[in-house]
Amino acid sequence: MPGPAPSPYEILSRKRAGEALGRTEIRAVAAGAASGGWSDSQLGAFLMAAAIRGLDAAETRELTLAMLESGERWELAREIPGVVDKHSTGGVGDKVSLVLAPLLAVCGLPIAMLTGRGLGHTGGTADKLETVPGLRLDLDRNRALGLLREVGMALGVATGEIAPADRRLYALRDVTGTVDSLPLIVASILSKKLATGAAAVVFDVKTGDGAFLPGVEQARELSRLLVGTSEELGVRASARLTDMSQPLGDWSGNAAEVAEAFALLEGAGPAETREVTLVLALDIARLAGVEVERTDLERALDSGRAREQLARALAAQGGETAWLARPELPLAPVERPLLAPRAGFLAAVRTRALGLLLVAAGAGRRVPGDPIDPGVALRYRARLGDRLEPGEEMARLYLRRPDPELERRFAACFEVAEEPVAAPPLVGERIAVSAPVSV
Ligand code: URA
Repeated sequence: MPGPAPSPYEILSRKRAGEALGRTEIRAVAAGAASGGWSDSQLGAFLMAAAIRGLDAAETRELTLAMLESGERWELAREIPGVVDKHSTGGVGDKVSLVLAPLLAVCGLPIAMLTGRGLGHTGGTADKLETVPGLRLDLDRNRALGLLREVGMALGVATGEIAPADRRLYALRDVTGTVDSLPLIVASILSKKLATGAAAVVFDVKTGDGAFLPGVEQARELSRLLVGTSEELGVRASARLTDMSQPLGDWSGNAAEVAEAFALLEGAGPAETREVTLVLALDIARLAGVEVERTDLERALDSGRAREQLARALAAQGGETAWLARPELPLAPVERPLLAPRAGFLAAVRTRALGLLLVAAGAGRRVPGDPIDPGVALRYRARLGDRLEPGEEMARLYLRRPDPELERRFAACFEVAEEPVAAPPLVGERIAVSAPVSV
């Protein structure tokens, strides 16, 4: 006979002393978070003890599973065996999902993604998609399955039914200084990401100033934990480090990023965004065991087939067909060039600060529920390492109204140095386990 469930007091005392918690104890924490049975102070104490003492692989797996099971699970792979998914740890100008999803779908890889809203300095795919008139992102399991069968892809937004335990724990991490604990990050990301039940997931883990965790070592560790924990839970997974020491591609801003995505889907658009998309698409195909060559992917983009796929898929989700045929994505009217103050080389882009300034200019939300201005945008003219003449345009800002102080702060994010600098590699290593690890 199992004994009585341990009390929060006992569980917290054990974690504070650095002991590893067992399955029952971890489940009691997640259940307490989801049901309200644990108070904010008890959960805050757990988060702090976990952040300081750490969680081992088994605890991380149990916490992930318990948080996942606190909400809906769609188990899509039971009906659509090869369904895949991709997760980005977030960045500035990261519109890869908008291109990747239709690209995979036309190459025979069904993909279902619950996209996110902008968070902190990072943009959100859901906010970008909402520039499409009529589009509905409120999917449930049946709707997602219907879309996968009809158009090979489904794009939704995570609702309150997905991992409610994370909703509460995430809000408490934010006010208890425990956001950057790796096991807590992993449990938080995976409890939502694995809820759709994809067979294979690729993680795009950003590094550099605009990344959630800027250091390469931390990004590697996060990748290993995301991949290891997913595999332990029966989901094939790999991670790819990609650079966020400068924004990705030519544009940031919701409407502008959708326009960049459409351009990429017609074989145009910036080489950097195309490259990251192609690499991630190949990683997903490899993980899913589907034979796809780079040239197949390139052809799908260059022929416009991926563009047609996106239009068909968004129309199936309520997007206006006339708009999808000729998207109108106007920019905000106040244009301001940001000029190089002297001759030299673009040596650094304060990408995190740029993301926060874009939010301040209206491209994101300062508080939940804020309206978003889709036309606010920043166009990047220079890349890290580029040679600049005095007065040469480094970037161009599109604002709703003039704001000299904001414009000055945007310009200060671009650093020009006398000496040439090398940009970090755009695409870094792939992290995978050959077989599920056992703890
Ligand atoms: N994204 C999440 O969903 N959770 C985290 O903890 C960090 C990033």
